[in-house]
Amino acid sequence: MPAVTNLPASMESMHQLLIDASTDIDNAQSLAQLDAVDASLLGRGSPISEARRGLGAIKDPDERRDTGRAINDVANQIKDLVSSRRTTLAATEEAEALAADSVDVTLPGRSPARGTHHLITQTMNEIVDIFVSLGYTMATGPEAETEFYNFTAMNIPKTHPSRMESDTLYLDYGEQEGEVLLRTHTSPMQARYMEQHDPPVYVVVPGKVFRADAIDATHSPVFHQIEGLAVDENITFADLKGTLATFAREFFGRDTKVKFIPHYFPFTEPSAEMHAYSNGRWIELLGCGMVNPAVFEHVGYDPEKVTGFAFGMGPERLAIIRHGITDVHGNNDLRPLLDPDHRILGQYL
Ligand code: PHE
Repeated sequence: MPAVTNLPASMESMHQLLIDASTDIDNAQSLAQLDAVDASLLGRGSPISEARRGLGAIKDPDERRDTGRAINDVANQIKDLVSSRRTTLAATEEAEALAADSVDVTLPGRSPARGTHHLITQTMNEIVDIFVSLGYTMATGPEAETEFYNFTAMNIPKTHPSRMESDTLYLDYGEQEGEVLLRTHTSPMQARYMEQHDPPVYVVVPGKVFRADAIDATHSPVFHQIEGLAVDENITFADLKGTLATFAREFFGRDTKVKFIPHYFPFTEPSAEMHAYSNGRWIELLGCGMVNPAVFEHVGYDPEKVTGFAFGMGPERLAIIRHGITDVHGNNDLRPLLDPDHRILGQYL
């Protein structure tokens, strides 16, 4: 815009000012730019205010009046142009803001992803529920266990290889029988529970167990077990078979066949493995047996008065068998269960 230098302002310079102002106003692309243009056209030090200040220098009253009118006229026209440009820009800016902020209320809603229990937890809950429905109670015990409860109270000899550091994860704490380790099975809870409760006992104990194993298709350093213990007068091996067969039919289906194969555990005598017939083959499901009288003696029960059975099973294994969890070759595999990928676990809601 040309500066109005030759005061008093001539009519021509006022006319030229209006033309230039109109261009500047049209070129303002935002309200902020328009405010700046507005200030430069009409504010302090603007050509209009300078022209008004020059009015006093015009001696002739008529000329002064006409020039004053012309300045006011131009100032008013500039105000009108600014005001109409302001209306246009405000509408544009509001339309843009609305477009950026728009919500299509006709779109279907997006439902939040819902959490669920891990399949291992689901399986443990289901197994516990089956035994609770048979009259058992549930208990839990410490994952950091003493060597005494994990081994000695369970009649596992001092020389047993499972006590070695190559099999058992010892915590660097305590000495001798008080030495603390990560329990290798849930069986120590048999002893702890019997110490705290008089017979009869019907209890299941779910929980984590730990072994010095690397992860492969069938091993993990951390896995789960559910221990079961029934102690009462006149409990026999027939009770063991009936209870565990009932469990297998509840868990795998009514027609599930089971068989018991002799086995050895230090804390049960006799001991067995229960196998179930599934998909055309026999599969080992759990270890079990009649509670060894030596275990009763450790906890102050009289083996002449009570008998009992115990069992231990792995929920990972049971879940893998029931859901057919395999590697790409179709072999049962623990690792998909341990994979945090929701596309795998999400299949088991
Ligand atoms: N504690 C045994 C294991 O970890 C399982 C078991 C429990 C066997 C109770 C018999 C009785 O393999």
